[in-house]
Amino acid sequence: MKLLTIPGVIDVHTHLREPGAAQKEDMATGTRAAISGGVTTVLDMPNNPIPTSNPLALKEKFKLAENRIYNDLGFHFAATMEALPFFEEVKNQVFGYKLYMNHTTGNLKVTPEEAEKIFAHIPNGKTLIVHAEDETLDRAIELAGKYRTKVHVAHLTSKQELMSVVKAKKSGMNITCEVTPNNLFLTDEDIKRIGAYAVMKPVLKTQMDQDALWEGLREGLIDIVATDHAPHTIEEKENSENSPFGVPGVETSLPLLLTAVAEKRISLETLITVTNTNPRRIFSIPEQLDTYVEIDTSQKYVLSNDKIVSKCGWTPFAGMQIKGKIMSVYLHGRKIVDNGKVFEQPTGKIITPAI
Ligand code: NCD
Ligand code: ZN
Repeated sequence: MKLLTIPGVIDVHTHLREPGAAQKEDMATGTRAAISGGVTTVLDMPNNPIPTSNPLALKEKFKLAENRIYNDLGFHFAATMEALPFFEEVKNQVFGYKLYMNHTTGNLKVTPEEAEKIFAHIPNGKTLIVHAEDETLDRAIELAGKYRTKVHVAHLTSKQELMSVVKAKKSGMNITCEVTPNNLFLTDEDIKRIGAYAVMKPVLKTQMDQDALWEGLREGLIDIVATDHAPHTIEEKENSENSPFGVPGVETSLPLLLTAVAEKRISLETLITVTNTNPRRIFSIPEQLDTYVEIDTSQKYVLSNDKIVSKCGWTPFAGMQIKGKIMSVYLHGRKIVDNGKVFEQPTGKIITPAI
């Protein structure tokens, strides 16, 4: 059997939930899920119940990760008024600063006035990651232009948003963007079928929007595929009055993208660019030697909740047919995944940006 070898996937947008919400996921289970899906680096978001908005909270994350992670793990810092005085101090330890301009899980949304101060204070060369939807995205682009802030737009969902980013790129701004598999493989039509398990922020958009996102990927206008892995327990999701936003995705991303390559929706070259080359360059992720994924491109299987490695135990992609099975994953020269199974030793490293 001839296997396809590709570089380990980098996922720059995950919520590993520790500390504060370990019933949903923790650093061990989240990185284990990631490596089982060929993801060898993850970056973790700061919207924990006690947010990563000061050096002590960041230190706590570094400590929690010690000897518990199955792939390489780095952190983003919050972009709130509480966090702002520490932006310079933590700049060599974090990959990006996450700004919430719209409402979602957590309590990090800022006012328009606060957002402007944050754009003005991002350290030189560092990246501000923005959760900004629709007109809010236009406002974010305006502020990035005014303060010459390096901006990365999280989870693009619509044709309109893609057009805004493309226009900004053409004007010479330092702006990049990502799309999630949620928006590439699901639309608002799926909400009826999947219910609470398809509830996320931003919300799923139309088929027309999804087509535009695929076209954007093929044309090289979208820089990164990142999962926005946002696990919640089944019990939490089933709570009809208070069902939280967010779906898991770290372990299903590469299988779905391999299927898209098999179906010729994108090229293998594009897959590698948006899952490895671009994320590494944009976020200064250190080089990983002897780190790669071996795939049997001929094997087919169906995604199902009972095979999910993440602590949450479900996937919005259950029932989808996959073409291309991850056979092994090597991290720093060691085989961590063999025939689809994860070895028990957590040998991942905590990472900080390459200078
Ligand atoms: C995320 C979460 O649950 O932390 N939810 C989501 O719907 N995407 C928050 C976020 O990334 O905005
Ligand atoms: Zn997110």
